[in-house]
Amino acid sequence: MSFSASQISQFNVRFEKADTREIMLWAWKTFGNRAAIGTSFQGAGLVMMHIAQEEKLPLPVFTLDTGLLFRETVELKKRLETFFGISIESLEPEFSVDAQAARYGPELWKNDPDSCCFMRKVEPLQRKLQSLDCWITGLRRQQSDTRSSIGIVELYEFDPIMNREIVKLNPMANWKREAVWDYLKKHQIPYNPLHDQGYGSIGCVPCTSKAAQGENERAGRWTGFNKTECGIHTFMKKKVE
Ligand code: ADX
Ligand code: SF4
Repeated sequence: MSFSASQISQFNVRFEKADTREIMLWAWKTFGNRAAIGTSFQGAGLVMMHIAQEEKLPLPVFTLDTGLLFRETVELKKRLETFFGISIESLEPEFSVDAQAARYGPELWKNDPDSCCFMRKVEPLQRKLQSLDCWITGLRRQQSDTRSSIGIVELYEFDPIMNREIVKLNPMANWKREAVWDYLKKHQIPYNPLHDQGYGSIGCVPCTSKAAQGENERAGRWTGFNKTECGIHTFMKKKVE
């Protein structure tokens, strides 16, 4: 499937005012199960899973399981599978945490978090995206400065050699944090209990801390490093937005 620059910009004009439901319906009609929701079970992904269920869209759901997730996150995955009656695919890195330590030294995240993220998140995602035409994310513009200008529909160069593109769809781009939480509460959707303990953005245990009040939503990630993105949103070259 291929889209021109003008098609992508037309979709963006149309979807800027559309609700998430309409955008997800479009994804299912256009890509079927070659579209999939990628989620770390934070607010936005849960909203999309709920909408997919209400609209009877059997969009596959996957998560990147680095092997370093909080126990609460791992448990939440099971709770969500029961709640939504679906199975969520876990994508795992090539090396276990121990195998990575044996090969690259212990606690790689302390010396070289970019390499650690690449092996534990980016590579497994790259493998998954080979079988997809549309990657649906829960990115929101409000989350950080680097995300403030994301499109709703973006076209990326996935494999320049094979001339393969992939659509990245951000149906939650316009949602504010409060709206996400209102939605989760209203529909009594299970969420990560760590949020109630003061964690804003939740990833791997070694790289997640509680952010101070007033800091940006993702301030608690990789505190102490000059790093704001794990790489899954930056490894591909954007073609059109
Ligand atoms: S991250 O870049 O710091 O990891 P964040 O936690 O804000 O991202 O999530 C932004 C979006 O990236 C999520 O809505 C989801 O689409 C995708 N994402 C992040 N982490 C994962 C994960 N572990 N598994 C699958 N998708 C993820
Ligand atoms: Fe490694 Fe930290 Fe990245 Fe997780 S977030 S993959 S522990 S560097």
